[in-house]
Amino acid sequence: MRKETQKKPKVFRLFIYSFLILGVIGVSLFFFTDIFDEIAEIAEKEPGITVETKSERIENGIELEIESKKAKTYTSYIAYPRTNLQTIDLPIYEWVSNQADNFYQEMEETEILLGNEFEAHLGIQSDITAINEDIMSFLISSEQHVEQENEYKIIQSFMVNLKEENIINFSDILDEEKIEDDQLFTLLRENLDNNKIDDKLLRTYVDDPDNIKWLLDQESIVFYFNPFEISNDEKVMNVAIPLIDVYMFFKEDYRSILFTKKLQAEIDRIEELKQLTERELDPNGKYIALTFDDGPNKHTTPRILETLKQYDAKATFYMLSGNATNLPELARQVAEEGHEIANHSITHANLNTLSSDGVKKEVKESMEQIEQATGVKPKTFRPPYGNYNDRVIDNAIETDQSIVLWTIDTRDWQHRNAKSTYESIVDEVKSGSIVLMHDIHATTADALPKMLEYLSEEGFEFVTVSELLPLLSTEAVGPHYGKK
Ligand code: NI
Repeated sequence: MRKETQKKPKVFRLFIYSFLILGVIGVSLFFFTDIFDEIAEIAEKEPGITVETKSERIENGIELEIESKKAKTYTSYIAYPRTNLQTIDLPIYEWVSNQADNFYQEMEETEILLGNEFEAHLGIQSDITAINEDIMSFLISSEQHVEQENEYKIIQSFMVNLKEENIINFSDILDEEKIEDDQLFTLLRENLDNNKIDDKLLRTYVDDPDNIKWLLDQESIVFYFNPFEISNDEKVMNVAIPLIDVYMFFKEDYRSILFTKKLQAEIDRIEELKQLTERELDPNGKYIALTFDDGPNKHTTPRILETLKQYDAKATFYMLSGNATNLPELARQVAEEGHEIANHSITHANLNTLSSDGVKKEVKESMEQIEQATGVKPKTFRPPYGNYNDRVIDNAIETDQSIVLWTIDTRDWQHRNAKSTYESIVDEVKSGSIVLMHDIHATTADALPKMLEYLSEEGFEFVTVSELLPLLSTEAVGPHYGKK
């Protein structure tokens, strides 16, 4: 059939032929390159169609092949990467040529219906990013429209390893032992715009890891979804998730291939911290948990962090999520320096005066906001003013947060006097003390060096609240610690 033979444009038919030939006689790279030049020549000879091709060199020896075509009723612009490694190039050509074939076939059918009275365009673009000298990410998008309407865009992603000469599938990197059944689904569900997603479609997407479209950048993994793939939305969607939150899903050998040195160092530190917070305290040890409420504050929190660092002291920061959200970098720094991130509500409201919705917000949403800002889920909650009721307790239990008050109140917020802050500790300190301070007052930052000096000399070890809790629960009642 005449139509059948003309359906595939020569350029792409020739791609396939060239691979067949290569497969049979196993020709050299030189010949392979040669074929591309021939394609251009032949394509130009097709009547009524002008074709321009060129090749641009980009990073890591990759070339961008560009072909623009002009026919009576349509134009096309196709740009795709070529690595000269067949195991990588073939699937890319296949995807690109498939898109082009479908478009050209549609054009032919439309010409039969409408004659030459329409205009259409196909654009295939490639975003090419080098992750390092071996790993590249290619995001290829194919967009077509007929007469300004009927716009249709789909994408495909390729993570390629030039050294190993392969494309890395999502199923390759995934550590099946570390990831639980529903974890990826839940992760995507949480990060995607809730209203639009069809859970059933998303589950199908997740259940076929080889089909998952993903790319990495230096800091995140991005998942891509084509129109109607997980929702009724006709647009391409994507969601970026910070690698620091999901690195544990990656097989170790892929972490070292794909992650930047900086990210790996950060992961190492987090792993170390985990071991630290998992450590069990000696029941006969001398421990103190310093806590700082109401921050972070851009002036005083960095000063306090600096002093803590000098004494290698870990503390617990009861953040207001309003402040953590405003200062996410500082909030994250507190976590990264090994301090415990804890929850002190969104707005510092007196929880005993709030409706059940209000309490829920201040206990639960604050926790989520603090996690968002710091990357760490708070494990303990300190109600503002120490005021709490059954509603607060219920919400805390539901969200796995222990309610923690204090045993020493420095009253630093009231007297605003460094000397008084220091003295309140000296008077009352004993092993297991939880000290209430605020990292929003300069006088508290002023008091800290002398306080830490004293406590160190007295042989106290500075621990976080969560480290201290298991030790205290043997001699106190339940998870709640009341005012003295
Ligand atoms: Ni407070």
